[in-house]
Amino acid sequence: MQTVLIVDDITENMYFLEVLLKGNGFEVHSAGNGAEALESARNSPPDLIVADILMPVMDGYALCREWRADDRLKQIPFIFYTATFISKKDEELALGLGADRFLIKPQEPEALMGVIREVLAASGSNKMGISADLPRSEGELLREYNEALFRKLEKKMDDLEQVNQELKQTIIEQKRLEEQLRQTQKMEAIGRFSAGIAHDFNNILTVIIGFSYMMRRNMPSGDPQRDKIDQILTAAEKAANLTRSLLTFSRKEEIKLQPLNLNDCIRNVETFLRRIVGEDVKLITNIREKDILIFADSGHIEQVLMNLATNARDAMPDGGILSIGTDIIDIDEEFIRLHGYGTPGPNAVLTVADNGTGMDEATRQRIYEPFFTTKETGRGTGLGLSLIYGIVSQHKGHISVYSEPGQGTNFRILLPLMAGEAPLSGASVCHEPLRGGHETILIVDDDAAIREYLGLFLAGLGYKALFAQSGQEAIDVFRENSHDVNLVLMDLIMTNKNGSEAALEIRRIRSDIKIVFTSGYPHDIIRERKLLEDNMQLLMKPLTPSDFAKTLRGALDREE
Ligand SMILES: Nc1ncnc2c1ncn2[C@@H]1O[C@H](COP(=O)(O)OP(=O)(O)OP(=O)(O)O)[C@@H](O)[C@H]1O
Ligand SMILES: [Mg+2]
Repeated sequence: MQTVLIVDDITENMYFLEVLLKGNGFEVHSAGNGAEALESARNSPPDLIVADILMPVMDGYALCREWRADDRLKQIPFIFYTATFISKKDEELALGLGADRFLIKPQEPEALMGVIREVLAASGSNKMGISADLPRSEGELLREYNEALFRKLEKKMDDLEQVNQELKQTIIEQKRLEEQLRQTQKMEAIGRFSAGIAHDFNNILTVIIGFSYMMRRNMPSGDPQRDKIDQILTAAEKAANLTRSLLTFSRKEEIKLQPLNLNDCIRNVETFLRRIVGEDVKLITNIREKDILIFADSGHIEQVLMNLATNARDAMPDGGILSIGTDIIDIDEEFIRLHGYGTPGPNAVLTVADNGTGMDEATRQRIYEPFFTTKETGRGTGLGLSLIYGIVSQHKGHISVYSEPGQGTNFRILLPLMAGEAPLSGASVCHEPLRGGHETILIVDDDAAIREYLGLFLAGLGYKALFAQSGQEAIDVFRENSHDVNLVLMDLIMTNKNGSEAALEIRRIRSDIKIVFTSGYPHDIIRERKLLEDNMQLLMKPLTPSDFAKTLRGALDREE
């Protein structure tokens, strides 16, 4: 049986050759590099050697030189089988060193076996191929050998450079995604914080607005104090607007989504926007011809446009160009992988760009934070972009910004296109004269100031009031007065038994009792905690007198 020595540093290559040769009736020895191969061959000379070129410790060229210089080995045929040294010069060098064949990987098994048999047969008849042309000068061989290695090295460097570039790209992408995640988490945290503040302030404002309103009502029209009360009410109204903004930012405010053509929305406010930006700024609109239907709250989208335009104007004190555009883009998995956000499928894009002062990185990082502003005191509250952020998130969209100092700013907002859902009807608010009554109302709230305010307010409207400061107390008071109470007005979230639990027990005492809940907590928290069944009525704090009076009257008059 003939023996073949195979030399390769890659196990899979070695395995393939081993199986092939054994299957064709050869005995196989193997070595992982040139040095091992020499040692193995000197111990037990094979009939043929098949060697790779690029290997650690001793490469194939060096092995071939040693092979041909060794008296015991030099008659044994030598085949190079390489995947990396594939140029004509590599082959010339190999044959110059005394190799019998120079094969490039991969070879068909049949072809490879053909060559091996041929070389073995030739060695039997002592025809030794090109190696017969030897000797070539040592210097020439050395030069060619160096050149071959150099070429290889260059190729490896190129490959490495390419891998390096790819790696850099991956790292950049990774960093962007991490940044994206960090930003989202930061906004979530600030959102929760703002919602908490807004909730507490709503309770406080309910008391301030309520009492001021009552004082005003009881004043003769010429009372000199009336002015001061009006000031209080105006300030409180401003504060209520602020908490409303915070709730919008933290996405804890109900919005009314309706089918909306984004293009119409821009056309509707165009004149208004021109007025905002002033004469020195040129407003260019670049609206996609076809309608862009989204499911949105038009008032909120107008607010987004207004705030962005205001910011752009502020960034262009000496005039400039504000460009507003719409389009539709298709978002695919690749987009989402690259940017870390997006809803797959067609999306509406709204771009608002200016060529103003632009922003540096540090500013850009913080622009969506509530109360972050670079404007002088009194010019900006820093709520504009927080509001936009909240609105866009509530529309399941995404806002991104590109800006460099001195290069202007480009905001891009993605909004999912509408997918044939039925429109929600939004209830409109109208203000009528306050209507009261003579019924008895049980007021349940764990906040003493609110209880007091509600009691006075209801008394002012002609109602009689009973009080309880917890869910448990409400049940007890109701049990004692179940025939007199016409309606229970109850805070939803209280420490000792919450509103909905108390309501269940109260209904057990009298199933037809009317219950209206109040809460300073945002709608979605209430829904999330499943505190309110669908058919229950909820009044959000701060309670405005007209809404409050109307809701109560409505509930009392409703036939169950
Ligand atoms: N188009 C823009 N160009 C340059 N900087 C901008 C632009 N838009 C926003 N900024 C920066 O982002 C900050 C925050 O903007 P944001 O709209 O939230 O608040 P504001 O404009 O400062 O105050 P407010 O909107 O409450 O009046 C700005 O103070 C400004 O530094
Ligand atoms: Mg602003």
